[in-house]
Amino acid sequence: GSEGEVEPQRPAFEQPLVVPRVVRGRDIRLPMTPARVRVLPDGPRTPMWTYAGSWPGPTIRRPAGGDTRVTFAHRLPRRAGSMSVHLHGSHHAPKDDGQPTTHLLRPGTERTYRYPLMFGDDPVAGSFFWYHDHRMDKTARNNWRGLQGMFVVDDPADAELRLPTGARDIPLMISDRSFRRDNRLTDPFARGPRMTHHHGQMAWLGRGAPPDDHSTGTHVLVNGRYAPYHRVSATRHRLRLLNSSPFTAYNFELSDGRPFVQIGTGNGLLKKPVVRDTIVLGPAQRADVIVDFHGESGNNVVLSSVPRDDEGAAVGTGTREAALMEFRVGRRAPDPSRLPSTLPSPRLVRAPARVSKTWRFDLGGNDRHGTFWSINGRSFDPGRAAHRPRLGSVERWRLRNTSDMTHYVHIHAEQWRTVLRNGRRPPPWERALEDTWRLDPGDVVEVAARFKDYTGPFMIHCHMLDHEDHGMMARFDVVRR
Ligand code: C2O
Ligand code: CU
Repeated sequence: GSEGEVEPQRPAFEQPLVVPRVVRGRDIRLPMTPARVRVLPDGPRTPMWTYAGSWPGPTIRRPAGGDTRVTFAHRLPRRAGSMSVHLHGSHHAPKDDGQPTTHLLRPGTERTYRYPLMFGDDPVAGSFFWYHDHRMDKTARNNWRGLQGMFVVDDPADAELRLPTGARDIPLMISDRSFRRDNRLTDPFARGPRMTHHHGQMAWLGRGAPPDDHSTGTHVLVNGRYAPYHRVSATRHRLRLLNSSPFTAYNFELSDGRPFVQIGTGNGLLKKPVVRDTIVLGPAQRADVIVDFHGESGNNVVLSSVPRDDEGAAVGTGTREAALMEFRVGRRAPDPSRLPSTLPSPRLVRAPARVSKTWRFDLGGNDRHGTFWSINGRSFDPGRAAHRPRLGSVERWRLRNTSDMTHYVHIHAEQWRTVLRNGRRPPPWERALEDTWRLDPGDVVEVAARFKDYTGPFMIHCHMLDHEDHGMMARFDVVRR
């Protein structure tokens, strides 16, 4: 941290967790407004750009298959420029996708996004999506400023599983930021690399490795608060973990050695629960987990992030070390919840034998343009479709990381089955539907999906937002047969 920044204190867990307010209607209206948000426990509130006055914005909660319209009204300062809101994980038309350069929300205007929450004739599975800004070149800045919120889809059929509900079903958005002494957010983008657009290529002004290309924060916040505590009964809880950090990855762990039981990915449930001591989540990744606080009455259980200890971590981007929040476990209480041994997981497509497209993630560069983040050697060009899958077809794509750092790659439009990870069957928690994958240096991940319902342009990009803003994005167009 440079001079004038707040150093993080050893967390005292002195402010309560805030669970964002829930909105449920079929027609939802969220003004985008400046607001002062209580993030740090002491001193002034932090001025932010928000969805409806809070960070995270309100949690939208809708039934699967429940057609939903969300109107965002841009009431932020003119200098904030145009915005674009993407519902991450969902399946919808390009005009409702919140893409970087089209169908923008101009200052003073509003725009309605339609989310049918369907795949073809079938309602989407119970899901944990999130909505966030996606404006070209400004995504990292706009997310840093606070334009982020959660979106839960409930499948009524899941009720009979008797998973924890109500106050025992808690969405947790984890995100890091840095602050000045007056508790204002720092502006890492003011001193970031200077970019130039040149012949459709985006490049650093200068040669060599990109400078200062990562918006990481000194403080890790949970639901927008630094080091909160939360009182829980000694019962099962469902925690929906979302990493909404612009750049940082976490390796989640519980302080008493208690495992997480992962039941879902964010795009529906796994086939069966998977017991995990730690869970790595990069930007935009989610995990749906059960934590059982039985036997912990009177104790405090700390959720933290620890360095990755697996081999990939040695060469990739490390994970952040931090104590995130404290669960204060109270007395026992009646617990009608169950942990089923099998779960209704969304059906997976049969993967074609042949790979129809390879996407290679790396630095690119040449004498004319300098260095840039790239996919297949090119930086993002919104005017160019890099691939044209046909509507109705099933495609198998290969994602290859040939760079020397980890990337977290996100694909819009569909939810994807992970077919192979480095030539092998993926780990149990990747055997359901995903939209964002970790790619350590050298990793090759193959994924498959059927293109359903919508034609038009969609995006594939690194979800480390600095990489996305600096060219690591490509467009593909779903076309009619
Ligand atoms: Cu969550 Cu294209 O983004
Ligand atoms: Cu990246």
